[in-house]
This record gives sequence, C-alpha cells and structure tokens, in this order.
Amino acid sequence: HELEMEIELIEKNGYEHFMLKEIHEQPRSIKDSMRGRIYPLDGRVELGGLKEYAEKLKNIKRIIIVSCGTSWHAGLIAEYLFEKYARIPVEVEYASEFRYRNPIIDKSDLVIAISQSGETADTLAALSIAGLKGATLFGVCNVVGSSIPRMTHAGVYTHAGPEIGVASTKAFTSQVTVLTLMALYVAQQRDVLSKQKMQELLTELEKLPDLVETTLKCEDNVKKIAGIIKNANNCIFLGRGSAFPVALEGALKLKEISYIHAEGYPAAEMKHGPIALIDEQMPVVFIATNHSSYEKVISNIQEVKARKGMVISVISEGDLKVKAMSDHTIEIPVTNELLLPVLASIPLQLLAYHIAVMRNCNVDQPRNLAKSVTVE
Ligand code: G6P
Repeated sequence: HELEMEIELIEKNGYEHFMLKEIHEQPRSIKDSMRGRIYPLDGRVELGGLKEYAEKLKNIKRIIIVSCGTSWHAGLIAEYLFEKYARIPVEVEYASEFRYRNPIIDKSDLVIAISQSGETADTLAALSIAGLKGATLFGVCNVVGSSIPRMTHAGVYTHAGPEIGVASTKAFTSQVTVLTLMALYVAQQRDVLSKQKMQELLTELEKLPDLVETTLKCEDNVKKIAGIIKNANNCIFLGRGSAFPVALEGALKLKEISYIHAEGYPAAEMKHGPIALIDEQMPVVFIATNHSSYEKVISNIQEVKARKGMVISVISEGDLKVKAMSDHTIEIPVTNELLLPVLASIPLQLLAYHIAVMRNCNVDQPRNLAKSVTVE
C-alpha cells in the first residue's frame, strides 16, 4: 500500500490532485491532439485515420453524433462547428436514447461516436445499431485500441494521454480540438471554405496551446471567486452559440465534484424558467466573450442584474463594458471564435476544482461516479 501511495505521488507530479495536474497539462495535450495534423501555410488538415474515407465524405448527407456525459457536450460543440464550417446538418444524440428509438438512418449518414474510454456501453450499442443500418461509423476516442476504435470504419484518436481524474478535463478539450480539426477536414473535402479562410483558421488554431497556457494564469483570480461562491446551493451557467455547451460542461463539472446543484442553459432560455430562481444568493456564470452573440449576452446579464443575481463573467481580455456590469470577471485571451469553446472551458474547470477543494470533496473520485460506464 505504501508503494502504491508513493507511485501515486510521483504520478501526480507535485500536484495535489490528478484533476489539477490534468487541467495544467492541457497546453501539451492539445498540442498532441494537433501534432502532424494541421498545415496552416498550405491551409490543409491531414487526418490519417480518415484518409480511406476522404472521398466518401463528399457524399455524406448528415452527421449523427452519439455519446454520453462530457463527451456528449463535446458533440454539441461539434454540431456548431460542423454546421458553421462544413455546412452539413448534424444531430447530437445521447447514446442511451438513440439506441432504443429505432433510429432513422441509412447509408448516406455518418455516425460519429465520441468517447474518452472507448468502452461506454450505451455508445457501443448505439454504434452497432447504426452499423446494422448501413451508416459509416467514425470514432473519436482517447484510449488506443479500445472497443470503439475497433468497431468503427475510421477514426481519430485524441492523444490526450491517460486521464485519471473521474471528472474529464484534458480529454474533453482534446475531443473539442480534434472535432474542430474534423469540421475543417470535412469542409476541405467538400470544398466549402476558401484556401485563404482555411489558412486563417489554421493559423489561429496553431496558437491554441499557447493561448491555453495564458488562460491558465487566471487561476488565482478564479480561486478568489471560488472562495466567494463556495457555499452556494445552486449555480447557473449561461452561454450562447458554441458557448452554450461550454456552459453545460461547466455546470456538469461543478455538480460532479463539488455536489453543488448547477444548471447550464442557453442564455436566452433563462427567461423561460431558471430566471425564477435568481436572487442575491444565486451565482450566475456567463460566457460573455466578444464574439457573435456579444450584445445578446449583455442583455441577458442585465436581466440577471435586475433581479439581483451575482454575475460572474468569462470575458475577452480588456472588455471594460461587461466588467462594469458584472460582480466578478475572468479574462481569457482575445481570439477567433473557433477557439472559444476550449479557452472558455479552462476557467470553468478551475472554478469547479477550487470550489470542490474548499468544500473538502474527493476531487479525483467523486461519490457515485465512475470513470467509464461499461454496463447499462
Ligand atoms: C462517465 C464519466 C464521464 C464521461 C462519460 C462518458 O460518466 O464519468 O467523465 O464523460 O462516462 O465516457 P466516455 O469514456 O464514453 O467519454
């Protein structure tokens, strides 16, 4: 047992928890997810694992993503990216719902399973049903040689490295990174983006590891905010566009490891329900960066402030406007919207982590949760 504890100490590499170590590994894990896959000067994406299916991508009519938990959130982000850049319709399904619905799919569909472990029972079952109906099957997995990569026609590994913390962090940002590459790859195969646009987007994407590094500097500030809201009973996370699934994931992280009840919502949907919960005790976390729905999110912040909610905003660096209307702000670097989902996720991971530590929770092994759910 002593030996086990010593090995664990070495593996944690000086960090108090695996989760914190994995959060801080993200500049490297994201770099590994992109390595050898992007060529900004040529405006090209190369995904070796999809090569044999490159031609087929030209005739795909629809993409269906099946996954569970955090991987489902990565799927929702992918929906925004595939539709925006590759102009192909996408549906994102909980694998557990999809498998029992006699889903309507055929040979013209591409089904993508996203799974860190590659072993989630519902995701495996959803894939085999889609396979029986003739769909093309792709996998986005982290664990090399796991079941999903073996049962799909093609796929892309995330290469995030082993993830020990039950609450997924670096595996999630690597999934989002790889799905971003896939969206651009599909766009390239279908010839829907100009070379110049591809060069521009890939040049941005190449900066992602460094920008994640910069974003991690928000930790002291996030820790202060964690100290202020650690005793809350409820918390709401709001965002629009691709920041909406980021809000869902931020809420899931907080629930999983701190046991605070949290909800993620599309910011505009707040007025159809959650707004009834808002009072001085209620922290509301906004993703309010300077991107396409900026002005819309600002009006949602005003709605919360009018009801005396406590507003914590993730903002683009230097944004004084949102800063002035928020109780607390967390700055992330100013970037192209393509990088927003990954960058905005970082402070939310840190927020959940520090709140959980302050509440003395078992961060790496939260109660009732398993790293992978291999039974139904
Ligand atoms: C469990 C884990 C989650 C994970 C989900 C899906 O619930 O605790 O972190 O997101 O399973 O797992 P997968 O391995 O398929 O991504």
